[in-house]
Amino acid sequence: MNSIKNHENLNQKKVLLRLDLNVPLKNGAITDQTRINKILPIIEFLLNNNSKIIVVSHVGRPKGKVNKDLSLKPICENLETKINKKIRMINDDIFKLRKEDLFKDTNDQIVFLENIRFYEEEEKNDTSFAKHLAGLADLYVNDAFSCSHRAHASVSKITEFLPAFAGIQLETEINALKKVTSEIKKPITCIIGGSKISTKIGIIKNLIPIFDNIIIVGGMANNILSHKGSQIGKSIKEENCEMIIKEIFETSKNHSCEIIYPEDVMVGKNVDSSSEVKELNNIEDNDLILDIGPKTVNKIKNIIKISETILWNGPAGYFENPNFANGSYEIAKAIIKKNKDKSIYSVVGGGDTIALINKINAIENFNFVSTAGGAFLEYLEGKELPGIKALN
Ligand code: 3PG
Repeated sequence: MNSIKNHENLNQKKVLLRLDLNVPLKNGAITDQTRINKILPIIEFLLNNNSKIIVVSHVGRPKGKVNKDLSLKPICENLETKINKKIRMINDDIFKLRKEDLFKDTNDQIVFLENIRFYEEEEKNDTSFAKHLAGLADLYVNDAFSCSHRAHASVSKITEFLPAFAGIQLETEINALKKVTSEIKKPITCIIGGSKISTKIGIIKNLIPIFDNIIIVGGMANNILSHKGSQIGKSIKEENCEMIIKEIFETSKNHSCEIIYPEDVMVGKNVDSSSEVKELNNIEDNDLILDIGPKTVNKIKNIIKISETILWNGPAGYFENPNFANGSYEIAKAIIKKNKDKSIYSVVGGGDTIALINKINAIENFNFVSTAGGAFLEYLEGKELPGIKALN
């Protein structure tokens, strides 16, 4: 992997910089800025080297259609304030852009393209789209480790058409995860939660040989509960996962890995409602499972107590509503306590988990904070991520 830090002459070079600015947004406002803060070093580095920067990123999942709620405008403005430099946001159709037009105003040093996932070609890893994007620049930098598990045009295909380099944050994340996986101390526990069930459920089986405990919370746990015969009301669930779940439990029997899932839950009638503790045999049709219950919290805390290493990816519930934040906060507190005693090595990853940790100002209380969610898990699985493979 070529590091951009070793490039000899970046003066006036047009750099297509793939970032992951997929930050949480609420009514157009950014609710957690960590992913923006993490890419400031690459921006500063390129500016100091007199490069011209074309920022490419996605936010959310607009599925190939323009969606004003998923515009990168607020993110671009946030970055502008942080670096105290004007950034020109380009809303024009990417297919109409030409390299010579991008920096016509010689004062422009950074331009920002609108959400790359407004184009269906992006997720299709489309060759002519990638070629056109590549045609806008002299070289390509991937500083988006957290979306390097996606074989998308601006992450993967583009490297076929431009000299490609690893960015500063991407290298930092890979080095840290390499260290974690090579120097791991047992017992090791993985907590997997969040709402991106489809991204994560297929990965669990491959993680079983590595871990002593896998704790499944958040949206994914609903699939397990339903598989085990509980009613889950109107809670989120991924279709066609029966086979995967069966395999998860069968594989765990062949390894000394315990799979832990909720024994009780907190439900609401909608995401904004109050919460109620429910036993699994008491869940009604109009209930929405939005957090783990107190018995489950205690069980998880006991596992954290005996763990030497913990990797946490994805909140336990819908923490955006404080009525459903208890499970996630209790997990965080239990890890932080052990971290302060220096009796655990803790790694936390993913946009929502970072947002949660930031809400309680505890980012410093974890040994390593990865911006990546799905990419983090796929890396642990031992998979070669498409975005990283492309850089090699
Ligand atoms: C993430 O938040 O994990 C990355 O930005 C990738 O997003 P995706 O799961 O929508 O591809």
